[in-house]
Amino acid sequence: MEIIRSIREYRGHIGSIRSNRPGVSIGFVPTMGYLHEGHLSLIDRARRENDLVVVSLFVNPKQFAQNEDFDSYPRDENKDIELCRMRQVDILFIPGEPEMYEPSHLTVVHVKSITEIMCGGFRPGHFDGVTTVVGKLFHIVQPNRAYFGQKDGQQTCVIQRMTRDLNFDIEIIVCPTVREPNGLAMSSRNAYLSPEGREKAAAIYRSLQEADRSFRKGESNVDRLIRIVHRELSRVPGIKIQYIECRNTISLKEISVIRHPALLAVAVFLESVRLIDNVILTPKESESS
Ligand code: PAJ
Repeated sequence: MEIIRSIREYRGHIGSIRSNRPGVSIGFVPTMGYLHEGHLSLIDRARRENDLVVVSLFVNPKQFAQNEDFDSYPRDENKDIELCRMRQVDILFIPGEPEMYEPSHLTVVHVKSITEIMCGGFRPGHFDGVTTVVGKLFHIVQPNRAYFGQKDGQQTCVIQRMTRDLNFDIEIIVCPTVREPNGLAMSSRNAYLSPEGREKAAAIYRSLQEADRSFRKGESNVDRLIRIVHRELSRVPGIKIQYIECRNTISLKEISVIRHPALLAVAVFLESVRLIDNVILTPKESESS
């Protein structure tokens, strides 16, 4: 595994690989590190589907607001390097902040409207940071395929929109959410939770599953499905709901009745940690929009 920290070096390295092995396919997994089984599932899938696997590790300051956890975001570079080695990553790209953002950096990639709702509504500017860094990484890494987790449901929509709008010739592959045995979606931020917090946080997925069960029994009214999630979450002391929303999976438009695949998503605070999760509700006979 090559560990590369500069854009110049990456370009030189990938250039010589491409000239020696024309047609080589590159699968890319962008991450902010502190890798867990969720990240590793994306890496494994990229490994199966591509000749070369590139992982980036960069805690991107531009997607954190002033009051957010950039400074305390968990980091363990040595462990991440070891995990990537074990999963047969070919290139681990670890740019420093000055490598990614010159002091004179002025450009922002902004996806309109779908970034202003849900997580974006509560974290203004967050998705500008995400699309700016992912756009830059796409240009640097030049992958054929890029892998993202369904856990960050809105992020996958925003990245797909950016990829189409800016004509990146990259296939975006969305992989299922990997969970702890109790159902809690894996996240680097789970490290902030106490053992009791981790148990309580299982209620998030439980509440989504409860709504999913109702949906599969025939409930397609969004208000009623949201009420089910709300009721389940309210039972757990310490959970503060930020939002529960159900929207079209692709357009993220609001819906009142589920006739097409819908993203049922929640964000909560528990022990001051912000946790998100979602499920996709797919009607039996649905068109794909
Ligand atoms: P990060 O939170 O490190 O996540 C990197 C990738 O792993 C994302 O695509 C995320 O959706 C996926 N992932 C996280 N937890 C997962 C889980 N439990 N199951 C499946 N996939 C999971 O998301 C980011 O970093 C950043 O915003 C980034 C895209 C790297 C841009 O900075």
